[in-house]
Amino acid sequence: MIAKIEKINQESIHNGKEIIEKGGVVAFPTETVYGLGVSAYNGKGVSQVFEVKGRPNDNPLIVHIADISDVSLVTSNFTNLARTLLEHFAPGPITVVVDKGDKIADEVTAGLDSVGIRIPELQSARDFIKATKVPLAAPSANTSTRPSPTTAQAVFEDIGSKIPLILDGGACEVGIESTVVDCRFETPIILRSGKITREDIEKVWGSCDVATNTSTVRSPGVKYKHYSPSCKMLAMNTSNKVLVETTVNKLVKAGETVVLIGNETLKDTSFVEFINLGTTVDDFMKYYYEALRTGEKLGSIIVCVLPFTENHAEGLYNRVRKSCGGDIV
Ligand code: TXA
Ligand code: MG
Repeated sequence: MIAKIEKINQESIHNGKEIIEKGGVVAFPTETVYGLGVSAYNGKGVSQVFEVKGRPNDNPLIVHIADISDVSLVTSNFTNLARTLLEHFAPGPITVVVDKGDKIADEVTAGLDSVGIRIPELQSARDFIKATKVPLAAPSANTSTRPSPTTAQAVFEDIGSKIPLILDGGACEVGIESTVVDCRFETPIILRSGKITREDIEKVWGSCDVATNTSTVRSPGVKYKHYSPSCKMLAMNTSNKVLVETTVNKLVKAGETVVLIGNETLKDTSFVEFINLGTTVDDFMKYYYEALRTGEKLGSIIVCVLPFTENHAEGLYNRVRKSCGGDIV
């Protein structure tokens, strides 16, 4: 099989809908990253998604709907907290975890009795979901452990030989995955950070916790290797150009081909390929995964330089830590 890449429009949405109806999988754009969609009611179809991604089967998928009025298709216990957060942040890059409804296939939630619900902000994504007339279970459309895809081409690179259709909506605006929030208790608990921060949620609900690696309530997915380029990677938090140059020089002397990713001030650093991630936290999020995919083709090590602190950039820091499998120095 070789995937067709079709611009997302009425006609390609119709083609996608026909595949979903038969229990097949279709990659589609969202504002965060591309998703690999399948009917959340079709257990067999869902198993195919795990196979295509090489995803561990204890890691549940998020269910996507087109409108808040469709939540009853996914849960019969929509909490006041979940409603408040969706009413405030959706359509947008947030996923609320609530009790799983009976019709959702057990494969979607990997046996858990809870389910994640998301309403993407991208209009064409919602048009596609609406056309299928079912809630769509969709993980990010990458091979497990790889950076998530933010272009149709990146989806093709990873899984183009395993699926029939990729709906192309251009580059994703947000660039990292949604904030996942457990909404089954009194206080929201962030299970996976994203563009919507703890502070954003606190402003709406008054309180918000963040699950830690040691807490019992957490997202199964967080224990696996994630978002990693195929080459080595080092991450630094600094605005000190001299420090970056010293680090790069050491690596070059040791025989590495260095790809530097960071803001414009680093653009004339010697002996490196440079990829500009823009200036703001939002820019960095938007271009980050694509930079990893470009960088791994150009060099033996990616050096990622973050010029801002973790404050208001938790989602990005979380992805960068995972990508390099260690600390940001
Ligand atoms: O932005 C996004 O969320 C993208 C787009 C395609 O919507 N999707 C995405 O899906 O990132 P995926 O499968 O790559 O990541 C889903 C995350 C995993 O960490 C998973 O463990 C967690 O959400 N998750 C899903 N259902 C859950 C549940 N019932 N309880 C706890 N965590 C859950
Ligand atoms: Mg993923």
